[in-house]
Amino acid sequence: MKTKRIAVLASGRGSNFQAVIDAVARGEIPATCCGLVTDNPDAYAIERARTAGIPVYIVAYGSYPSKEAYETALRRVMEDLAADLYILAGYMRILGSGIVKLFHGRLINIHPALLPAFPGLHAQRQALSYGVRVSGCTVHFVDEGMDSGPVIVQACVNVEDEDDEEVLAARILAMEHRCLPTAIRLFCEDRLMVEGRRVRILPGNALSPESRC
Ligand code: GAR
Repeated sequence: MKTKRIAVLASGRGSNFQAVIDAVARGEIPATCCGLVTDNPDAYAIERARTAGIPVYIVAYGSYPSKEAYETALRRVMEDLAADLYILAGYMRILGSGIVKLFHGRLINIHPALLPAFPGLHAQRQALSYGVRVSGCTVHFVDEGMDSGPVIVQACVNVEDEDDEEVLAARILAMEHRCLPTAIRLFCEDRLMVEGRRVRILPGNALSPESRC
C-alpha cells in the first residue's frame, strides 16, 4: 500500500494534531504528514509542527482584505501540498464551498459532540445546556453544510452531574485523541467507502485497543 500524504489544518492549541503526529510516529498510520496549515500565526500547533519537523504554512486570515482573498491563498497552499487527505483538527473557520468541492472525499473534520447533535461552536456548552447524559466526538467527511458530512467514527463519553464546560471538554478531548488517528488510519488504509450518508468500514487489520474508540 502506498504511503499517503496527509496535511493538517489547525487554528490553535493543536492537541489533536499532536495525537496525529504521535500516531504516525508509532507507525499506526501509513502516512507522512506533509504540512501544517494555519490561519493563526500565534497557534501553538506551529510549535508542535516545528518540533516534529513538519513544514508550516501560515495563511493569516487577518492579512487578507476579504474572505475570498484568504480562501484563494488557502486553496493554493492546499493544492501545492498535494495531500491525499486534509484534516481539520481544530480549524475554527468555515471553509467556503469552492474548497469543500475541490477536496471532496479528501477532507475530514473532528467535532466535539455526537453529530448531528450540537454542530457549530461551543458544542460542549451546548451539550451541557441541553442536559444530555452522553456526549462525545465525531470524525466526519466535510460537505458544504455545517458539521453535516458523512460520519466516519464516533465515540461517546458520559456527562456527569458536576461537569462544567471545561471538565466535559477535557473528557471529550481525550476521546478525540483516539478517534481522529483511528479515522485517519482507516482512510489511509483505503478502508472507507462512502455510500450516500453512510460510511462503510472495509475489513482489515484489527485496530489496537489503544487506537480503538
Ligand atoms: C477540539 O475539541 C476540536 O474538536 C474542536 O476544537 C478543539 C481543538 O482542540 N473543533 C471544533 O469545535 C470545530 N467545530 P485542539 O486544538 O487541542 O486539537
